[in-house]
Amino acid sequence: MTTVHVRQHGDIAVIELDHPPINALSAAMRTELVAVLERFAQDPAALAAVLIGAHGRFVPGADIREFGLDKPAPGINASVQRIAASAKPVVAAIAAHALGGGLELALGAHFRVATPDSRLGLPEVNIGLLPGGGGTQRLPRIVGAEKALELMLSGRSITAAEALALGLLDEVVEGDLLAGALAFARRVMQQGRALSTVDARRDRIEDTDPALFAALREKHRRKWRGLLSPGLIVDCVEKAVSVPIEEGLAFESDAFRRCVASPQRAALIHLFQAERAAAKIPGLEGVVPIEVQRAAVVGAGTMGSGIAMCFASAGIPVLLLDARPEGLQRGLQVIGRNYETSVRRGSLDAARAAQAQALITGSLDLADAAPCDFVVEAVFEDMELKQQVFRRLDEVMKPGAVLATNTSTLDIDRIAAVTSRPESVVGTHFFSPANVMKLQENVRAACTSPQTLATVTALARRIGKVPVLAGNRDGFIGNRILAVYGRECDFLLEDGATPWQIDGALQAFGFPMGLYLMRDMSGLDVGWRIRQYREQFRDKRQRYSPIADRLCEAGRFGQKTGKGYYLYEGSGADAKARPDPEVEALIERTARELGITRRTVADQDVVRRVLVAMVNEGARILDDGVALRASDIDVTYVNGYGFPRHEGGPMFWAARQGLAGVLEQVRGQHAIEGERWLPASSLEAAARQGRWPD
Ligand code: NAI
Repeated sequence: MTTVHVRQHGDIAVIELDHPPINALSAAMRTELVAVLERFAQDPAALAAVLIGAHGRFVPGADIREFGLDKPAPGINASVQRIAASAKPVVAAIAAHALGGGLELALGAHFRVATPDSRLGLPEVNIGLLPGGGGTQRLPRIVGAEKALELMLSGRSITAAEALALGLLDEVVEGDLLAGALAFARRVMQQGRALSTVDARRDRIEDTDPALFAALREKHRRKWRGLLSPGLIVDCVEKAVSVPIEEGLAFESDAFRRCVASPQRAALIHLFQAERAAAKIPGLEGVVPIEVQRAAVVGAGTMGSGIAMCFASAGIPVLLLDARPEGLQRGLQVIGRNYETSVRRGSLDAARAAQAQALITGSLDLADAAPCDFVVEAVFEDMELKQQVFRRLDEVMKPGAVLATNTSTLDIDRIAAVTSRPESVVGTHFFSPANVMKLQENVRAACTSPQTLATVTALARRIGKVPVLAGNRDGFIGNRILAVYGRECDFLLEDGATPWQIDGALQAFGFPMGLYLMRDMSGLDVGWRIRQYREQFRDKRQRYSPIADRLCEAGRFGQKTGKGYYLYEGSGADAKARPDPEVEALIERTARELGITRRTVADQDVVRRVLVAMVNEGARILDDGVALRASDIDVTYVNGYGFPRHEGGPMFWAARQGLAGVLEQVRGQHAIEGERWLPASSLEAAARQGRWPD
């Protein structure tokens, strides 16, 4: 035996799982564990067993290195069922992590004990899977259906204290875990407690409200669009409460196989790994971030108030500043309303919301930010104003504090240049609504120090964001690709498509909202003003679509004026968008004036042209060194721009389509459309190698 060792402690068998470095549940371990459990069942000298991990840890889950490989070994179910069926008590002794298959092993045991710092969870949903080792059937039997669903659908891990409160743990062991687990097992044996197996339990599930399942499906309908595993997790738990466990386990196995066979699994594993990789920045190894104990946000508008909530919700005291009392007042009110909504919807409990809100204070005087370690500026998008704010921050902030800007378009070097400490200046580009959207695009300016970068990266994770590093070039990563995406859609309108066709095609691909609905929602006038200013610099030889300008000239600013690309009935969030023949006529007129003969454009051509353009721009971003790796672009698009998770991001999509084919299409468009479709060198190199560079 190499990965499972058995030692006898009196009449208790200690079964130790040992697979360096982290005890991941490998095929070899599963095979050996089944054999060991069979011997334990038959060994008259062993009256109980303690299942424990070597190296001071339990089992953090399946061995990710074996994903996708077909290793001939018993599935985890074979071990769990032997544990669950044992006539002798088995105590799982958990240290560090019991996640995924690790927790499922422990769920089969009659009892679970753990060290105070351990964490437990079933995170399979994050990689497009569901707990396939009995987790969907046994966790509800121990903690109830509602809580089990919350844990499995969020994939979050919980502390030992929370697990104890839920009944998932029987005891938290202070001091030596093995000694504590052995003592626990002896107590159980002495008490002669009748062994109740998890599989036979129904006490926590028999009162489950049958309406729970339909309500969950409805609540998450939009979020789960195109995703397989969350819906199947709900189905599995619905089975758990209504059929005997054997039937439930069979249903779970079947659902698990469906997830494994689905193409979205590779995409979700890619993103899981890409999100971890994105937080690793070459050159920052060993750089210690500044510890942020207090933060400040300047500008209490749409973004500033959302950003302040991110800090407060993570337990960081935050000072919200504005130049105008009414601006500050409104920001604080918005925050209050947002927390109220979260409590009403049940996504946050009232005590936590009150705690977070108590961490937010307001001020009209920038000097009050002096004791903060970190400040984010989110005032109007205006270079002179931002420079003025940074001059003042430079005067008041303590040495070493990080000065961040939330600008989406301005040159951060020019902002940094007005301070005496450009090494402390960095971009932290949040997305709207900032308290919800996961992406934090961190922007490295010319002088940004490694410590400043390390700080914004660590801080992003602390406040629950996904950090991606971008270079300081127009549009950074996300908005630069968005500009190309929008441009191609506009040309497609001229070529023969309609806004509703394009939106429908993009939504069918998996975007939560089409481009034109999104533009109408955020207002067309902002972009119009920017274009009017940029008109003087525009290269007049390049193709330009005037449709958006013409809509604005006609007073169509989107939802807020009742018409934009669509016609709106009703107002606010309930406004209904309808196709508008006037818009179609405007598009036709424009195309005629430009000498374009409109033709029928197929939905799949819309999607392909848009995606291929995004990929080529992504590759240019790699050419320019604005992104560190192709997978960072995927992380950006999925977490900040609604690119469907189950497609893995634009660069992953391209690799799956075949990079040579994508390049072929870029070349084809280049031949027709000219310069703007010039193939990126990184795409050419990737097509030659058959993959994006690491
Ligand atoms: P906003 O107009 O909602 O809020 C700006 C706030 O800054 C106002 O409350 C205003 O009173 C305050 N302010 C102005 N001058 C000030 C000063 N000197 N000192 C303190 N406060 C001052 O603007 P929004 O939309 O929140 O944008 C803020 C920044 O975030 C901009 O740089 C914008 O480009 C960027 N951004 C905006 C996004 C969005 O979707 N709205 C997304 C990502 C970035």
